[in-house]
Amino acid sequence: MSPSPRVIRAALAGPLPAYVYDPAVVRERIGALRAALPAGTVIAYAMKANGHPAVVAAAAAAADAVEVASAGELDAAAGLGVPLILSGPAKPDPLLRRAVDTGAVINVESVHELRRIPGRARICLRVNRSHPALPGTHRMSGVATQFGIGEDDLREALAVAARHELLGFHLHAVSNNLDAAAHAAYLRDCIAWAAARGGGWVNCGGGFGVDVTGRETFDLDLVGRDVVVPAGMTLVVEPGRFVAAPAGWYAAAVVDVKRSHGTWFALVKGGTHHFRLPASWGYSHPFTVVAVDDWQYPWKRPAVTGAAITVAGEQCNPRDVLARDAAVTRVRAGDVLLFANTGAYGWEVAHHDFLRLDPPRFTTLAETPP
Ligand SMILES: Cc1ncc(COP(=O)(O)O)c(C=O)c1O
Repeated sequence: MSPSPRVIRAALAGPLPAYVYDPAVVRERIGALRAALPAGTVIAYAMKANGHPAVVAAAAAAADAVEVASAGELDAAAGLGVPLILSGPAKPDPLLRRAVDTGAVINVESVHELRRIPGRARICLRVNRSHPALPGTHRMSGVATQFGIGEDDLREALAVAARHELLGFHLHAVSNNLDAAAHAAYLRDCIAWAAARGGGWVNCGGGFGVDVTGRETFDLDLVGRDVVVPAGMTLVVEPGRFVAAPAGWYAAAVVDVKRSHGTWFALVKGGTHHFRLPASWGYSHPFTVVAVDDWQYPWKRPAVTGAAITVAGEQCNPRDVLARDAAVTRVRAGDVLLFANTGAYGWEVAHHDFLRLDPPRFTTLAETPP
């Protein structure tokens, strides 16, 4: 997707590298998901995907709740005035105490955790169900993982849970599922599973996918198909990536262009310490070349035309690569590369402190005139 002139202006309006976030996209994505899911579905934005204050504020205003997974996230979201849901497989006692004090719903991950919650809390039992759930990455249910309570231990968990306000079950299963029909089947299956165990909340988590390469789309027309929530039950979802990915652009200036062993490289100030996804998932992230005609040196600009290039960052690390074999019409030192769909798990999961390199500038379209 080509960036709009406004995104380009926002990116070029200050020092690079920079992240540009658009809170309007966050609101649109939540609205679209809400329209696709059964009426009454509770949408909790998973702020781990993007914790920028403007993104979280927009999400909190458009969604019904915010899902947090650490003391830091809980503290950041506590002032937003929306209900909070706390997840995380190894919650320390102070975090459980803080969650109880703030009234957050706690997704409980084990019987021991259940026993450690002080007082009376609003809880869901996170269950790692017995069978595989969904296509997608980071599978967290139906296989051996650190997450949730096994179905074998559910009877004991339900007995211990009796002293709390048990709302229902939490069944988050995968990340980045692109098959919306499979997601609908998963929602139906989770609802039936929870209904057979007393109903209440059935929190199906996140996992609504975004293909950041732009090849596939998650078909919202399919995700709610035949999903019926019985009376007395509440469907809860915790989307992160789906909301935040298209709301972000990462812009980095080309410092150098050169050829090595027959391959053309564009070297940018920036890299995977800001935008981690291409390195951790091993793919090539698409980008747009923004031509910048200023050239400050008296010699000829390093440039390449009509070639496939590899985009590498500023780290002394051969894995610091954002794109490979990407066809470009022209790229010159001094041009800017703009990477769309970088709003989720980009900056958040990056190794920011490596080499003490500069952080990016963060800006939002709200700060850029239309
Ligand atoms: C408990 C929980 N809920 C929600 C999410 C958000 O998932 P996604 O960004 O795939 O929608 C995650 C991601 O790991 C999670 O662990």
